[in-house]
Amino acid sequence: MAVPAPRLEIKNLRRVYAGRAVVDDVSLQIMPGQVTCLLGPSGCGKSTTLRMIAGVEMQDSGTIHVDGKLICDTVFRVPPERREIGLMFQDFALFPHLSVAENVAFGLKSGSKAERRARVEALLDRVELRRFIDGYPHQLSGGEQQRVALARALAPQPRIMLMDEPFSGLDNRLRDGIRDETLSILKEEDTAVLLVTHEPDEAMRMADEIALMRDGKIVQQGAPYNVYTRPIDRAAVAFFSDANILRAEVSGALAQTPFGRFLAPGVPDGTSVEIVFRPQHVRIDFDRGGKGPAPTPSDGTAARAVVERARFMGNESLVEFRMDYDGTVLKATVPNVFLPEPGAVMWLTIRRDKCFVFPRGAE
Ligand SMILES: Nc1ncnc2c1ncn2[C@@H]1O[C@H](COP(=O)(O)OP(=O)(O)OP(=O)(O)O)[C@@H](O)[C@H]1O
Ligand SMILES: [Mg+2]
Repeated sequence: MAVPAPRLEIKNLRRVYAGRAVVDDVSLQIMPGQVTCLLGPSGCGKSTTLRMIAGVEMQDSGTIHVDGKLICDTVFRVPPERREIGLMFQDFALFPHLSVAENVAFGLKSGSKAERRARVEALLDRVELRRFIDGYPHQLSGGEQQRVALARALAPQPRIMLMDEPFSGLDNRLRDGIRDETLSILKEEDTAVLLVTHEPDEAMRMADEIALMRDGKIVQQGAPYNVYTRPIDRAAVAFFSDANILRAEVSGALAQTPFGRFLAPGVPDGTSVEIVFRPQHVRIDFDRGGKGPAPTPSDGTAARAVVERARFMGNESLVEFRMDYDGTVLKATVPNVFLPEPGAVMWLTIRRDKCFVFPRGAE
């Protein structure tokens, strides 16, 4: 059987402003029913990428295909309104002078009046707002307005939905529910979704695939689990959580550190490396008469540390330690409540299997 074409395929998209490539050689494929999150810090080029796909901005080079058909290169261009792409942005204003039903019906061009009404009713049922069908936007809460906006975007059955931080205006309590609800509706409609966010939690929660973007480029792409557990560099670790760093030199494929030796297979002698690990992979032991726990193969050697400060974060506690070996500060998280006094002496070890060894990058 032939493999179906991706619903959305962008190839080598590039956009230059004032001599700077703000989107630089970006390629992506999204299948129907798949959610891809474009995740990256402010200014990395996420919205610009979305605007080119929507057709409201023209790329300097690269192509966009929908279901295998070219919709835009630098010569040929399908206008935005004929791309069958739904848009949902952070400032998704509803039309204030139109009723909820009229807002949702706004993009419906085809079908009889009765058919359009049926589609509007079905969508409002789906977002559980049928009772507001004849109401007006100002009578709805922020979350309800968001759901009307979703119904409006879905009404013409777009093949692709582009969402630019659509949940950032909602308070935390509402956000999780609306995110999950939105996701299940989009999956049901078999829409391909490209969702822009700068929040790793949101991407982890929503995405089938995460495309990590930095300085106009996609630097890593994959399932959330893979991106989180196999980051390509220190910045990729640090984007998802706090990152602790040990610096070391390699000798005989081993990096020697105060926590013992780390394997650095294939790394030439004399190379400077960074060993990067997350705070939840630091183990804490109490001081036993000036000694820490005995070394083990999985946890290496313990290093002596002094508590600098400890904070309770809700599900876990975050403890900052000043390390005896060179005064570096390392962070450790511990489930529940663990609030040792500043100045307390403890011994830290690191989970060997959770460390990432990278060549030392630019500071
Ligand atoms: N019309 C424009 N003219 C000049 N520069 C622009 C224009 N639009 C965007 N830029 C620049 O391009 C870069 C990328 O902008 P973009 O809006 O795509 O970022 P973003 O990843 O969406 O960021 P955020 O998370 O803050 O929304 C920024 O440095 C921005 O200043
Ligand atoms: Mg943006």
